[in-house]
Amino acid sequence: MPEIRHDECDQLAALCKAGGDPLRLNVLRALANDSFGVLELAQIFGIRQSGMSHHLKVLAQAGLVATRREGNAIFYRRALPQADSLGGTLHGALLEEVDELDLPADVAAQIAAVHAQRAAVSRTYFARSAEKLQATQDLIAGLPQYRESVLALLDSLSFDGASTALEVGPGDGGFLPELARRFAQVTALDNSAAMLELARQRCADERLGNVRLRLADALQDAEDAADCVVLNMVLHHFAAPADALRQLARLVKPGGSLLVTDLCSHDQSWAREACGDLWLGFEQEDLARWADAAGLAPGESVYIGLRNGFQIQVRHFAKPDSRSVLTHR
Ligand SMILES: C[S@@+](CC[C@H](N)C(=O)[O-])C[C@H]1O[C@@H](n2cnc3c(N)ncnc32)[C@H](O)[C@@H]1O
Repeated sequence: MPEIRHDECDQLAALCKAGGDPLRLNVLRALANDSFGVLELAQIFGIRQSGMSHHLKVLAQAGLVATRREGNAIFYRRALPQADSLGGTLHGALLEEVDELDLPADVAAQIAAVHAQRAAVSRTYFARSAEKLQATQDLIAGLPQYRESVLALLDSLSFDGASTALEVGPGDGGFLPELARRFAQVTALDNSAAMLELARQRCADERLGNVRLRLADALQDAEDAADCVVLNMVLHHFAAPADALRQLARLVKPGGSLLVTDLCSHDQSWAREACGDLWLGFEQEDLARWADAAGLAPGESVYIGLRNGFQIQVRHFAKPDSRSVLTHR
């Protein structure tokens, strides 16, 4: 009897095994645009943590999920298929098929509940901490450290004098005078009354006549689209950042821009407690992928290394105008 070696097949077999279970397929579906901790996934699928850990181990061994350490917690996300490696094509096809499925309604409801829990943590933080925002922000990265880079990127985009801007999460309004100088009309939208009051004081002190302040949730309340939408250090406070980018893209007029300033991925978990951060920064590729899924095209990016070890990314994403969409069809 010839000795048959199965090594090559092991990897494919692990992939098939991992895909051969409805719950694991639904976990992959749930991770399409999000990453969750094992406890969150156990809550979402209504099973015990030990059971969910087992399923995640099988998915991880097959290379279908990857982990990311966020401080003390481990978050699971989908691994990207590698087309040129064994099983890569099957992996890609599996995810494509999975994404055609609708999540069971109760799973979708539980995901919404997990997002609501995350968002409540963020809101509570800003309601309590408005007065000390500047001090806590400065522990990591304050506006003075990224202001010039954001402005350089903004000015390179040459908006005309009639353009409008929307700043989501202006905090104490430190960036509003810059926007007010450059745009005909600026809307500042924040879901914290305490933060918005600080922004209102700033607008009054600086006599900014073209800034409209609005107490609203950027992801839940309707708002008119603007030529330029700016988010400075806000995305890491959103419960589901990939989904948030999709919604924010709708607030950008065709031909307009989304400017996102945020931290690069880091492992300083104290930022959760001290600064109310839900996410410890972002991988640069994740932002690009989420923006692409939101119909935005990557533009210039600036990366700023800080002396305290943190790194900031200032990213520009452009929304194609309707004419360029037509010509590309
Ligand atoms: C860390 S502060 C950033 C403040 C300012 N942009 C800066 O760079 O200093 C985040 C701000 O986003 C606001 N925010 C968080 N989630 C929001 C949401 N869903 N809709 C609107 N504003 C939100 C918070 O209230 C807070 O003012």
